[in-house]
Order: sequence, then C-alpha cells, then structure tokens
Amino acid sequence: MIPLSLAQIARVTGGQLCHGDPDAVVSGEVVIDSRRAGPGGLFAAVAGERSDGHDFAAAAVAAGATAVLATRPVTVPSVLVADVPAALAALARSVVDALPAVRIAGITGSSGKTSTKDLAAQLVERLGPTIAPAGSYNNEFGHPLTVLRADAATRYLVLELSARGIGHIAYLCRVAPPRYGVVLNVGHAHAGEFGGLDQVARAKGELAEALPADGVAILNADDPRVLAMAGRTEARIVTFSSAPVSDAPVRAVDIRLDDLGRPSFTLLTPEGAAPVTLRLHGAHNVPNALAAAALARELGMDLDGIADGLGAAVARSRWRMEVHQRPDGVTVINDAYNANPESVRAAIDALAHLAQGGRAFAILGHMAELGGTSRASHEDIGEYAARIGDSGLAGLIAVGEEAAPLLDGARRVPSWTGEALAAPDGAAALELLANRLKPSDVVLVKASRAAHLEGVAAALEGEAGQ
Ligand SMILES: Nc1ncnc2c1ncn2[C@@H]1O[C@H](COP(=O)(O)OP(=O)(O)OP(=O)(O)O)[C@@H](O)[C@H]1O
Ligand SMILES: [Mg+2]
Repeated sequence: MIPLSLAQIARVTGGQLCHGDPDAVVSGEVVIDSRRAGPGGLFAAVAGERSDGHDFAAAAVAAGATAVLATRPVTVPSVLVADVPAALAALARSVVDALPAVRIAGITGSSGKTSTKDLAAQLVERLGPTIAPAGSYNNEFGHPLTVLRADAATRYLVLELSARGIGHIAYLCRVAPPRYGVVLNVGHAHAGEFGGLDQVARAKGELAEALPADGVAILNADDPRVLAMAGRTEARIVTFSSAPVSDAPVRAVDIRLDDLGRPSFTLLTPEGAAPVTLRLHGAHNVPNALAAAALARELGMDLDGIADGLGAAVARSRWRMEVHQRPDGVTVINDAYNANPESVRAAIDALAHLAQGGRAFAILGHMAELGGTSRASHEDIGEYAARIGDSGLAGLIAVGEEAAPLLDGARRVPSWTGEALAAPDGAAALELLANRLKPSDVVLVKASRAAHLEGVAAALEGEAGQ
C-alpha cells in the first residue's frame, strides 16, 4: 500500500476524521476481517449478516491498525464515510492514479476466472512485481482491497472481475481501469440473477467496453458470445482457441490428458510452437492456460518463458480440481469450490477420464442461482453423467433435496446401469459411498459454494483405508 495519512484518506473518501491524528499514516494492509488487521493497517468495518465489523474496531486498532473506516462512530481513530465499498473504491482509484506505470489486467468469465488469474499471475510474476488477489477476491470489496496492496514497486496488477448483474464489471473497471482484458466464457453461473445468457454476455462484455484504444482485448474464439465482444471495444483484439482448426493467434493443438487428467499440448503463437504440460487437472484448464499465455505474451514474455511458466504453475486456490490418490487406490477429485452447469460438465469429463481403469462415482450438490432453468439444468447434468464414457457413472449421489433432479435426469437414460442415490446431507453421502468404494474407483465431489461439500471431500481424502 502507498502510505497515506488519515487526512489524505478522509479527503479521498469524502469522509470525516474522528479521534485521530491527521498525520498518522496508513502503510499496512487494508482489511475487512479484523483478525487480519496488523501494524499500520486500515480496518474497514462492514456490517454483515452475522456480525458487525464496527464491534471489532477497537480490537483492530489494538492489533496495530492505524485507523478504522466506519459508517457509524466508534471510539478509536477512524474515518467516517457514508458507504464503505465506495470509500474503498475511491481509495483504490487514488492508488491506481498515483502509480501510472502499473499495467493492469482484468480477467472475467463465468467459469475459470480464479484458475486463469492464478496461472496468469504465475507467469506475470516472472516479468516483475505483481499483485494478484488471493482466491476469488473479485467483487466490490475484494477488488479494491487487492488494488490497495499495490505500491511504488508494483509493475503489474492481475485482477479477477466478477459480476452478479449489469454494471458490476463496468464499476470495477472504473476502480482500476484495465489496459488488458481477458474474457473466458459466457455460461450459466448466476444466469438466473442475470436473466439469461445474453444478459451474462452483456455484463461480461463491459470489460471489453472499458478497454482503451491502446489496450488489448483477449477473447476466447471458441465461445461465440465472447468473440462477439470484439465489436464492443476500441482495443486491439487478440483471440485464443483450443479448437483443432482456428485462425486465432494463440492456440493449443495436439491436446492430450495423462492418467490424472493433466493436459499436455503444443502452444502455437505467431512466434512459434512450444510444448506445454500443465500441473493442473482437467481439459478445461487448456483455455485458461491459453488466456494466461496470451496475456503474458502481450506483456512481453517470450514463448519459451510462457511455456516454461505454464509448466511450472501450480494450483494456488483450494478445492478446484484437486486430485488426491489414497493409499488404498481410490482417487478423490475435490472440485467442491463451486458449481454451475459448464463447470460440472467439465468436472464429469475429467472424472470419466481419470476413471478409465476403474469405476466413476460423483457426489454432487445443487447448482445455485440458475433461476427458472434450474430443474432442467440439473436433469441435463444427471443425464450427462449417466451417458459419459462407455456406461456412465457407476454411482451418482445427489446431496440435498435441491439436487434431486440430477437423479431424475440420470434415470431417463434407459441404458444406464449405474446407481442413482439420494443423500440428505454430506454425512449420508459418505455413508452411501463407504460400502461401495473399491480400489481404482474415482470419486468427484462438487457443488455450489453454499453446499460446503469440501468437508465431504476432505473426509473422503482422509478415509485412506490404510
Ligand atoms: N474454462 C472453464 N470451463 C469450465 N469450467 C471451468 C473452467 N475453468 C475452471 N472451471 C471449473 O469451474 C470451477 C470454478 O473455477 P474457478 O474458481 O477458476 O472459477 P471462477 O470463475 O473464479 O469462479 P467464481 O465465480 O466462483 O469466482 C472449478 O470447479 C473449475 O474446475
Ligand atoms: Mg473466482
């Protein structure tokens, strides 16, 4: 963070300084979790559903924070503002304006933002000091908090931009105007809230619209709704594609998956070809890697550096396609971070690939926020699971009532010989699976964030049968 005095913070946010020395300086991290408040930092108090950050203002200052950003009076040094996200946005924008040499990249899409951001950050870090968010810090809180970590040494910001409605990405782009914009895909994540895929495309395309004429729009040529965003930007267009035939400048060809679903491919760019083997699992990480490669290339990285960096990159964020091999021969795929129709299909594809020598089971929870198409989407995924590979999954366990339509979908496949099992909760799902699993079986665990199935995956990983 660039050191800012409380007087400066009050001015930038239009806030009022209370109980504080105007010359006291904030030079540490800006946080919204008081437990993470540290020396010289700023604690932004937010009133949540379960607790109110203002109650922790004194604790944050006791832990060393210089002051608190608050919306109601507290007893410690504070800057009183009307709206905390707006204040964070104003502060973040002032930091961006003070660091004109920093090159800013924004990454959006329905699935794969965090995976791509983590890959891109691991490439861009090789070019110079880079700030990228931890996990999915991608909304009106996490985004400015990430930007605020930048200081005079920072050269690159690699940001994840999320939207739950029209205007959200445009807003984040005003906080930290990107010169490089990556759009991965337009899918059904939050489609219910948006009101359909065309609205999702409208929202994600705000990133393309925000780019300046000397910027670069990095677009997935394999997704027509993304490619169409080329018409919504002044920026230069660079496309990427993992299709066998494409005129995109950044491509993956000869894509193969090893036994654990890790992709290898030949990376083609206008500069030449280079072999790449990812440490990440699942074919869906190929477009993510191409997006990261296209961004790094625009930032000046050469082909060998990109190929080397992609091969060295590890999964930085938890519960996305973590493949765990138990000593008893069972393989667990922990993809419990989140779920939408596209990412569940991608995960089932990976499951089927990994289970070529054994049987495939899936513990699936429901996919949230799909709106009116929710039941049909769950049925379609169930049907997909019953048709995958030679004979479909050996067992499909739906956790919770809302996930039950998955089983209806699977049952509509007459040739399917697998088991459709309903579990009221994760513990019941584990019990159902316990008597069935044999060495060389593979189990996928996946659901929307709200279902918290990562505990189920962790329990399965621990049940090593040693
Ligand atoms: N390109 C892709 N296509 C389909 N699914 C993907 C893709 N990339 C990642 N996934 C899957 O989607 C899920 C979420 O991945 P990731 O966290 O990278 O996405 P995200 O867009 O950041 O999600 P969120 O909106 O929750 O922040 C994971 O299960 C992952 O395996
Ligand atoms: Mg994310």
